[in-house]
Amino acid sequence: MGNLDGQVAIVTGSATGIGYGIAERLSNDGANIIMVDFDAELAEQSGSELAAKNVDLEICIGDVANPETAQEAVRKALDKWGRIDILINNAGIGGKNGNIWELDVEELDRVYRTNFRGVFSFCHEVIPHMIEKDYGRIVNIASIAGKEGNPRMVPYSATKSAVIGLTKSVGKELAGTGVLVNCITPAVVQTRILDQFTPDQVKYMVDRIPVGRTGEITEIAALVAWLSSEECSFSTGAVFDISGGRATY
Ligand SMILES: NC(=O)c1ccc[n+]([C@@H]2O[C@H](COP(=O)([O-])OP(=O)(O)OC[C@H]3O[C@@H](n4cnc5c(N)ncnc54)[C@H](O)[C@@H]3O)[C@@H](O)[C@H]2O)c1
Repeated sequence: MGNLDGQVAIVTGSATGIGYGIAERLSNDGANIIMVDFDAELAEQSGSELAAKNVDLEICIGDVANPETAQEAVRKALDKWGRIDILINNAGIGGKNGNIWELDVEELDRVYRTNFRGVFSFCHEVIPHMIEKDYGRIVNIASIAGKEGNPRMVPYSATKSAVIGLTKSVGKELAGTGVLVNCITPAVVQTRILDQFTPDQVKYMVDRIPVGRTGEITEIAALVAWLSSEECSFSTGAVFDISGGRATY
């Protein structure tokens, strides 16, 4: 029994890493889960692990950048449970490291598709159902890179800034309804995403965390769980720092 009993949460990019940790935490709190990921094998494996812990879940395989993936996730949630209470836009990629003059627009488009178009598509498909019920909690996983701007990471930093901008806009569009939209800006957490960065780039990011350690997936999931709950009631369009003291605003 938990404070999310009977609720339904769509969690994108939840086959591994932070997304999996969030799915696990929300299900511990009582939520049913739609696990969205484009890595079919990993999603089946992670889905089985969660199901073995008595979690009621559906798996939706697809690229978040394709609106059809969001449409399918919504359909699955409504067919099985008739409701969507929570949307966690977590799927994200790091992209290549390099100065802007060393990268090309194709790389920018690739990172943009997952990190921003994916968030847009899922909000676009899910929000009408939340408005209808006058209840919903949306949490977008941005990054400290979107606030501070990491050098040699323009596509990642800029698309994460875009997620912050989207959160602020949509939060205002829905203010006064029961649908709240917030985002979080984590600093480094040890997951597979770090394999996409050079060791120097990871060192740059870790060295800037004043508390002197990386974040834990369970710490990120705990903040997301609160933002996904009814207890969060007076925050919308807001950016929640979870960066071990790195954020300067
Ligand atoms: N790990 C960190 O240090 C860190 C810090 C700040 C923010 N974040 C953000 O947290 C989120 C999760 O990151 P993570 O570290 O767990 O990454 P990860 O690489 O460990 O996991 C990402 C998951 O998303 C899936 N995914 C990626 N692109 C997808 C797409 N287009 N469609 C569907 N699924 C897709 C992957 O298959 C994987 O299961 C990302 O948005 C990331 O930018 C991570």
